[in-house]
Amino acid sequence: MSRSGKVTVVGSGFYGSTTALRLAEYDIFETVVLTDILEGKAEGLALDMNQSRSIEGFETKVVGATTTADGAGYEATANSDVVVITAGLPRKPGMSRMDLIGVNAGIVRGVAENIAKHSPKAVIIVVSNPLDEMTALTQIATGFPHHQVMGQAGMLDTARFTNYVAEKLAVPVSAVKTLTLGSHGETMVPVPSRCTVNGQPLTSLLPANEIEELVERTRNGGAEIVALLKTGSAYYAPSAAAARMAKAVIEDSGAIMPVCAWVEGQYGISGVYLGVEAKIGRAGIKEVVETALTDSEVAALKVAAEAVRSKQADVKDL
Ligand code: LAC
Repeated sequence: MSRSGKVTVVGSGFYGSTTALRLAEYDIFETVVLTDILEGKAEGLALDMNQSRSIEGFETKVVGATTTADGAGYEATANSDVVVITAGLPRKPGMSRMDLIGVNAGIVRGVAENIAKHSPKAVIIVVSNPLDEMTALTQIATGFPHHQVMGQAGMLDTARFTNYVAEKLAVPVSAVKTLTLGSHGETMVPVPSRCTVNGQPLTSLLPANEIEELVERTRNGGAEIVALLKTGSAYYAPSAAAARMAKAVIEDSGAIMPVCAWVEGQYGISGVYLGVEAKIGRAGIKEVVETALTDSEVAALKVAAEAVRSKQADVKDL
């Protein structure tokens, strides 16, 4: 098997370390670099992951590096093909993702600048919260073309929606297709008209009020887990989503995924990072793909766009 490319995961919390392990276990990259500001943490986790290689049967090498806010340690990430930014604080119970904007903006801006310096060609996948705003900030701080910077949210929200539908109807998750667009927050837009179970429209299988309950649970999917964990936020499904996106980039797969991408005219919306479906490849976003939506879904997407637009305008000053 041939391996190629280098992917860096910034931040060795649960989200970052789980993402790094998933990427290493794909066994498609030459190198996975994991970083953290806590001295020795990334190195320790990398050593541990490397020691699992002979058992799990992968050859990808994991490298750990301690980094500082002023840029020390970033040499280890140099010339990455893909970078996943998980840096920042997670929510505590009762917090919204937006409550993190001030503190995480400072952290993400610093990381983005250092990444841009060392890996000017990298495709960046942002997962730090509030997601849509941190994605916009990363593009501003790196000065990268918009297609080179995207955020992970729709993959996760869609996976949650799919799980709830599968449980509700007692069918395998593989039989269910769902879609969520909009923001990774209050104005998330789950799209029931695009959901099917074994090819049958979800709207023909469940009454509207029961679909609405699943939509609402999807919108609160992250908060439900934060409330249960009490410290930290979700990471198994989030890391699965981010790792699949990084895989689509390095394999130049052209897979269509729901992601946070820069929209320019799609659905009549322009100049904002928003959850939409997009074709993913080596350059990042190859193309935003428009899907047929009902009038009310388009209206909800426009509400989401305006909500994130006003917050994204604020981030450049944070
Ligand atoms: C969530 C966080 C990671 O939705 O945004 O779980």
